[in-house]
Amino acid sequence: MIIEILTIFPDFFKSPLQAGVIKRAIDAGIIDFRTIDLRDFTHDRHRTTDDRPFGGGEGMVMIPGPIFDAVDTIRAAGPAPCIIMLSPGGRLLDQELARSLSEKERLVFICGRYEGVDHRVVQGCADMELSIGDYVLSGGETAALVAVEVITRFIPGVLGCDTSAENDSFSTGLLEHPQYTRPREFRGMSVPEVLLNGNHAEIERWRRRQSLKITAERRPDLLKRAALTEDDRNYLKKLGLWSES
Ligand SMILES: C[S@@+](CC[C@H](N)C(=O)[O-])C[C@H]1O[C@@H](n2cnc3c(N)ncnc32)[C@H](O)[C@@H]1O
Repeated sequence: MIIEILTIFPDFFKSPLQAGVIKRAIDAGIIDFRTIDLRDFTHDRHRTTDDRPFGGGEGMVMIPGPIFDAVDTIRAAGPAPCIIMLSPGGRLLDQELARSLSEKERLVFICGRYEGVDHRVVQGCADMELSIGDYVLSGGETAALVAVEVITRFIPGVLGCDTSAENDSFSTGLLEHPQYTRPREFRGMSVPEVLLNGNHAEIERWRRRQSLKITAERRPDLLKRAALTEDDRNYLKKLGLWSES
């Protein structure tokens, strides 16, 4: 997958790409990651990318020209991109959306700064607006990093084990069960006995039930949309965590 980030702070991406899963995927050639400096598409001495808002108000707004010019250059070379404007008002990123974006050949993220971006970028440039949560960041760069990390987990070969992303919290419609590793005893806390007995059917059942309980307690909204079996529902009823309404 080709990932291009349009930003006025290309250096922002240097260190996060030097570690972990993303670094391995870049080194292996699974992800071709590029940053594009929007200032390279300015035409004045000061390399201006922002201006005061029409109608007055606080702060500055990013001008459309450099963004349109950068997108034109991107479109002219290589496969058709999916252009994503990062914006707190966009569609909320979740596992389902991440999985579908992971199937694209080329993603372009536009990072806003200041008070945001001239609306004509959304009208004439972007295929979609994307938000990473109901809060406001100072810039789209952090949002782009989050989106890249979430989306690329679904690309075959990026994770050590390709089924990992499918078993993560949310992918199954539920939050994940607790995980344990060595030592068996730690500061008076023990690993649940069921995980040590080698009975895989029992372990799966315990994990499923832990997922159900944790999701019902913390995120009942998710439970309403999850695919549950009769056995799941009976277990939740027994705990007093299921209502038919
Ligand atoms: C300070 S924010 C602008 C916020 C804007 N004035 C508003 O109230 O919606 C600057 C930039 O950060 C990015 N940004 C901020 N919060 C975000 C979020 N939750 N998801 C995605 N991008 C975000 C966007 O690119 C945005 O243009």
